[in-house]
Amino acid sequence: MTIDEKSRKTLAELGITDAAGVDTLFAEVRALLQAERTDLLARGAASAVERDRMCKELRDRWLARKNGILSTIDEKWLKAASKELKPAVGKSFNAVRQTSAALEIAALVKEVPVNARAEENRESSAAARTAAPEFVREVPSDLTLPGNRRPLGSLHPVTQMQREIEEIFLNLGFRIEDGPEIETVHYNFDTLNIPESHPSRDDWDTLYIDAQTVLRTHTSPVQIRSMEKYGAPLYIIIPGKCYRHDNPDASHSPMFHQIEGLAVDRDITFADLKGTLDFFAKKLFGEKIRTRFQPSFFPFTEPSGEVSISCIFCGGDGCRVCKESGWIEVMGCGMVHPQVLRNGGIDPEKYSGWAFGLGIDRFAMMKYDINDIQLLFQSDLRFLQQF
Ligand code: DAH
Repeated sequence: MTIDEKSRKTLAELGITDAAGVDTLFAEVRALLQAERTDLLARGAASAVERDRMCKELRDRWLARKNGILSTIDEKWLKAASKELKPAVGKSFNAVRQTSAALEIAALVKEVPVNARAEENRESSAAARTAAPEFVREVPSDLTLPGNRRPLGSLHPVTQMQREIEEIFLNLGFRIEDGPEIETVHYNFDTLNIPESHPSRDDWDTLYIDAQTVLRTHTSPVQIRSMEKYGAPLYIIIPGKCYRHDNPDASHSPMFHQIEGLAVDRDITFADLKGTLDFFAKKLFGEKIRTRFQPSFFPFTEPSGEVSISCIFCGGDGCRVCKESGWIEVMGCGMVHPQVLRNGGIDPEKYSGWAFGLGIDRFAMMKYDINDIQLLFQSDLRFLQQF
């Protein structure tokens, strides 16, 4: 007689009259329950839907309130037991119920493997154990629960600044170029007309890899590389990382970002340089901004200039940021030195050009009122999330 059949008879009908008989009977029940569970695990299911169906079927067979095996046993064995047998039957019945808790659908569903060969394995459950089942991830059944939040990142303030600057020059017809951060002395210094004796070549200022190789100290070497590559006319901007032998402090970082600008064409004059940079400053910081050009010196430009803008914080009246001067110095510029054009393979008799170089980090600090450049490179989310 199967357990299904036995469960529909009373203990008296089964001829069980003592505790030992009760124990043996319940041991049979537990063994069957365990076997059916193990079998389902070993067989696996052909799909997630199929798996859910099989698990539910097993649960209902044993735990259904109406006609589940345990309900029937409760009725026929426990409730109908004689006074003497009742304590033994109650104890064993509870033990089975504890076991059946393991049948809870959630727990079972997670464990039953879904594999394509489940159909074949139905015949031979042993084979399923070697069939490398693929486990399917549990999908939460309550779709009204809130989802998992995945915080989206945002562009770094330096990247935002870079893109804003690029955008202005792209609209003026400039192209974006880039070059290597590990650069030769030839491009970083020699061809830019920087003399052998120039202090910037000193290894107090420059990070050397070997005698002929440096981490570029500015983006200017890409001027020469681009002139060689494209010739004239040429309208480019060159964003990128630069490196100097500087100790980090509030205004210095051994790695920082520059944007270089270069325009080479026939009849380019200082007026083009002034007009373009004034336009640029107004686009970036607002129409009220004024620009000021003062003489300066760079080996690769002649004449050279320093550009200041009217203070974006006080409008030029004088404040803490502009040190009461009303002006903030923002970049170096000048007319490209004829020797530099020649070094780039361009004839200075036919062409002339202007160039500028600015620090993107310093622009970002100005724009967002950041007083310590280190904040930009520390990856502190409390800082970065503000942008
Ligand atoms: N390369 C210079 C620096 O790093 C900046 C610079 C100044 C670039 C004048 C230029 C320029 O193109 O014309 O300090």
